[in-house]
Order: sequence, then structure tokens, then C-alpha cells
Amino acid sequence: MCGIVGYVGNSQAAPILLDGLSKLEYRGYDSAGIAVYDGEKIHAQKACGRLKVLSELTHDGATMPGTAGIGHTRWATHGAPTGSNAHPHFNQDESIAVVHNGIIENYQKLKKYLEGKGFQFVSDTDTEVVAHLLDYYYKEDPMEAILRVMNRVEGSYALGIMFKSHPGVLYAVRKDSPLIVGHGGDGNLIASDVPAVLKYTRNVYFIQNEEIAVLSGESISFYNVDGEEIAKEPSTIDWDINAAEKGGYEHFMLKEMYEQPQTVRDTLSPRIKGGMVDIEELGMSDEEIRGIGRLHIIACGSAYHTGMTAKYIFEGMARIPVDVDLASEFRYRNPILAENDLVIIISQSGETADSLAALREAKSRGIKTLGIVNVVGSSIAREADKVMYTWAGPEIAVATTKAYSAQLIAEYLLAIKFAQVRGEITEQQVVSYLKDLQKLPEQIEMLLSNKGKIQHFANRYISAKDVFFVGRGIDYAISLEGSLKLKEISYIHSEAYAAGELKHGTISLIEEGTLVASVLTQEELYKKTISNIVELKSRGAFVLAVTNTGNTEIEKAADYVIYIPQTNRWFTNSLAIIPLQLFSYYVAVGKGCDVDKPRNLAKSVTVE
Ligand code: F6R
Repeated sequence: MCGIVGYVGNSQAAPILLDGLSKLEYRGYDSAGIAVYDGEKIHAQKACGRLKVLSELTHDGATMPGTAGIGHTRWATHGAPTGSNAHPHFNQDESIAVVHNGIIENYQKLKKYLEGKGFQFVSDTDTEVVAHLLDYYYKEDPMEAILRVMNRVEGSYALGIMFKSHPGVLYAVRKDSPLIVGHGGDGNLIASDVPAVLKYTRNVYFIQNEEIAVLSGESISFYNVDGEEIAKEPSTIDWDINAAEKGGYEHFMLKEMYEQPQTVRDTLSPRIKGGMVDIEELGMSDEEIRGIGRLHIIACGSAYHTGMTAKYIFEGMARIPVDVDLASEFRYRNPILAENDLVIIISQSGETADSLAALREAKSRGIKTLGIVNVVGSSIAREADKVMYTWAGPEIAVATTKAYSAQLIAEYLLAIKFAQVRGEITEQQVVSYLKDLQKLPEQIEMLLSNKGKIQHFANRYISAKDVFFVGRGIDYAISLEGSLKLKEISYIHSEAYAAGELKHGTISLIEEGTLVASVLTQEELYKKTISNIVELKSRGAFVLAVTNTGNTEIEKAADYVIYIPQTNRWFTNSLAIIPLQLFSYYVAVGKGCDVDKPRNLAKSVTVE
């Protein structure tokens, strides 16, 4: 939520800031702004709407001279997406400029306090209090003012700060919102995420909570909350720079769907050794695995949906009881956790505020935690006791596809390992499961190559009002994700239901022609779901079925059938989700929606 950048060095700052913001636009895109010190004054330009409006306004930054600046792309939390609420925000005489990602939770109290001291506010944002509070505490030393502000503000923040009286220096500080520092040859940078600096450097420092970075063109230093200088080692980022570019695809979402075979391979292959699952990276002994009493899988959105799938597998295959929780619920419901439980947090970004808070809640109760995370070095990856990375690379489209697929693979591997160690499956079964998993990339490729058929079908539904997704067991978990994909990018109302639940209320919504997408990949449940399809059809529904090759019985009940290749029943989600992703994508494209940046959403939800 919100992206911040900063640059100080020898080059003109504004074009670099705009370029960096373009890589962070996935974090928020309702307004943008930059501030640059031109040798006399800190000048700012802000614009509502997408970044391109700001780029046009400043001729791609050319109209803003100066070699030090900060920038912001916003996902509004406090105050509407207007020009006055866009960042950067200033103190009264515009000698201090601030960009912020996060939420200052006690901003109303601070605002009242500052207004009482004569400070005047021009925006509705929580961020503006930071600019005025810095002014209030600033005497001669920016560091002292920043430390005092850190003592007063509550909530989460990543801040980029410039003081007119200290030209050529940027200050950055974070608490519970991501922030990195890039060490470039021609200057130094700050950013909310790595893609924003990749064009300029691969040497990156990860700032920890409540640390402060001070950057000039030539130097970078770090300080702790007591103002003492601390040493930090840079990390080298080895991502392919093209990974964060569209590479000829119309949208990032399409590109990322096509990257799924590779993502699955990358997440799977390093963890298969000698025909067995090897997750030594977790440092979990067999005794520890055998001792697990219950798993608590905690996540948000699509990551939660992979957890729903994993519940069926951990329980069915490894016979370990599993609770799956939405992170926003888990953190406030005083959950019952036992000493030998394992909490698994799943997150692409590793920064989702609720997931991070759930992780901390579990840790504070002394429960072991394992993060399944995509972004290396992110907060959840750093704070979890153990981390299993999903090697999906940068995911830019707001709607997740490849990270979702990678999360499933990580969960399958854990389930197989746990099941084997606990004596629930034999070595032969492991070998057979792994063979099936290794076939997935090719099978996904095959499904993707069938996109024409799905595009054709999707074009018929661009003006649908409601779509329902139904299934049983793992097919219900797949339906949840299919439904989320459709509604988030095409804005068509859609719901997912356990097929057996329909007649307890929802079936009353079915009218002549209502599209129902049914998922039938679990052989022992085919007949049950087919009965539900028949009930739906007799109320006028048009039924699309996604099912396994060979299940021709469905053709008598459904109107349109998409077959997926044969795989083990535990892994069908990885295949059945592909046509559903494609369907959502083509409906959204057909409707002319902004597929990669759906309205009201942002990629990394760092506020609760
Ligand atoms: C939907 C989507 C979201 C995320 C959710 C969790 O397409 O991407 O539902 O899955 O916001 O995000 P992470 O995985 O970053 O914790």
C-alpha cells in the first residue's frame, strides 16, 4: 500500500523518481507526487490518478531540476485521493518534505496537539502530522527530530524525509512497513521494494524496524533507535531485471500466468533429492515433525485459499488436524494454541499487515512459526522461525497467479514430507506423488495453450451480473479462488459456495441464464456435485464444468466442459485454477478493465 522512492546523487532526480514509482505503482495508484530540492527550494508536483498524469505534467521529470528528491504513489487510507492529500507533505514553511507508507494510528491526537501549538494543516492525511511534528522538534539536527518523532507516533511507517537545511541528504526510517536502500554507482536510493532500484543497482540494504538510514550521493549510514550508528551488510539481488517488465505481454497478469510452469519448477525442483522431499532448509528434525499437534494456517485473500486447499491435504494425507484462519480474524480472536502446534503463515509479499500481526501473535505465545513467503528478506520471512521461499520472482499484477501456484507447491511438499515422517504414507507413495508433481509444469503449459477456447467462452460473459463458483472439498477451495479472481479484476459480482450448501439459501439467486462454474476434480465427490449441477440447471443456470479428462459423465449435466489432465487428487488445484484464471482475465479484458491495477486495490496490503 503506497510506494515510496528517494534518490540523491549526481543525476537529475525527478526522472529517476518517476521511473522508480512506475515499478511501485502496483502498491497504489490513485495519486502520485514528487519533491525535488533544486538548490534553493524544495519543489513539489502532485497529480491525481495514475502516475502517467504526473509524468506528463513534469515532462517525464525534465521540468524539475535538482539531484535529490523523494516520490510517492498513493493508495488512499486517510483522506480522499485528491491533489491536496497526495504526498509529499510539508511543514508550514515547506522546509521539510515527507513521503509515507503506512498508517499513523494516533494522528488525530497529534494533529490536535499540533493545532493547539499553531500548526495549520492543509490535508486530511495522517502523514501531514509527521511533517509538522518534525518541524516542531527540529532545531539543528534532523536525526534528533526524527528520533523524537519516532517516540511520539504510533502505527506503521516507512518514511522518506528531506530537510531544506541539509541539502543533498535523504533520511529514511521504517516501522512495520517495508523499506530498502539501494547503493548505486551514481547515487543512492530508497524504495518500498526492490524493482524500483534494480535499474540502478543490485546492492541493497534491508532496513529493519526502527532503524534510520541517512543517504548522501557518496555515503550511506544507519542508526538505531538510540541514534547510535550501526553496521549493515548489503545483499546482492540476483533477479533478472526483465522479470519486472511486461516482456511483450499485454498485461503483467497474462505474463505471470504464463510464468506458472517455471514457477512451479523453481519451487519444486530444488526440494526433490534422491526421489524424496528435501526441506532441510527448514531445519526441522523428524522428531519435531512427529511432535506437531495441530497446524494453524494463517493468511489473507488468495494465500488463504491455498491454505484451504492445504487443509484437505494435511488432514487427508498426513492426518494432522488443521485450522485455517484469515489473518485479520486470527489476530483478534484469542485463538487456542498448544505448545506443540505449528503456525504456518502464507504470504506472497511477506508484508501483509494482518499476516505479520498474526505471526507476531503466535510468536508472543511461544508457538513455532513457519513462513511460506515469496519476497526474500520481507518482514514475515525475517521474523518467522523458519521460512520456505516460493521461487515465483517478482509478481507485479495486483491479482496473484504465479505466487498462488507456487504457494500450493510449497504446501504439497510440506504435506508429503510430514505424511512420510509420520508414517502415514510409504516411500513408494512419495515417489508416485513427486512424479505427479513433476508433470505439473507441462500440464499447466498445455492448459495455457488452450486459452483460445476459454477466451471465446469468456467473451460471452462480459456483461454477466452474477457468477457462482461451486465445488466440494478441494474443489470448493478452488472455487473460492476462481471467484475472487473474477470479482477483483472484472468487477462482476461473484460468490463461491460449497456445492452442498447451495440449497440452504443461495440457490434462490439462480435465474434463467445465471452462469455457475462448477469444479469437479475429486472422483469420490463427482456424483454428489453432478446432482447439485442438475438442481442448478433445473432452475435455469448455465453450467460450466471444470473436470478431469475422462469424466465424460459430466457432459450430460453441464453446458460447457473444460477438461484438465489427470493428476493425483491432492494436486488438482494446480491445474483446475488455470482455466479459471484465464476466464477471469479474458472477461476483464473484454470489459476494458485495468487488469493489472484493479480499482480500489493494491498489491501489498500493509495496513490492517
Ligand atoms: C488476490 C490477491 C490477494 C492476496 C492477499 C495476500 O489476487 O492477490 O488476495 O493474496 O492480499 O497477500 P500476500 O500473499 O502478499 O500476503
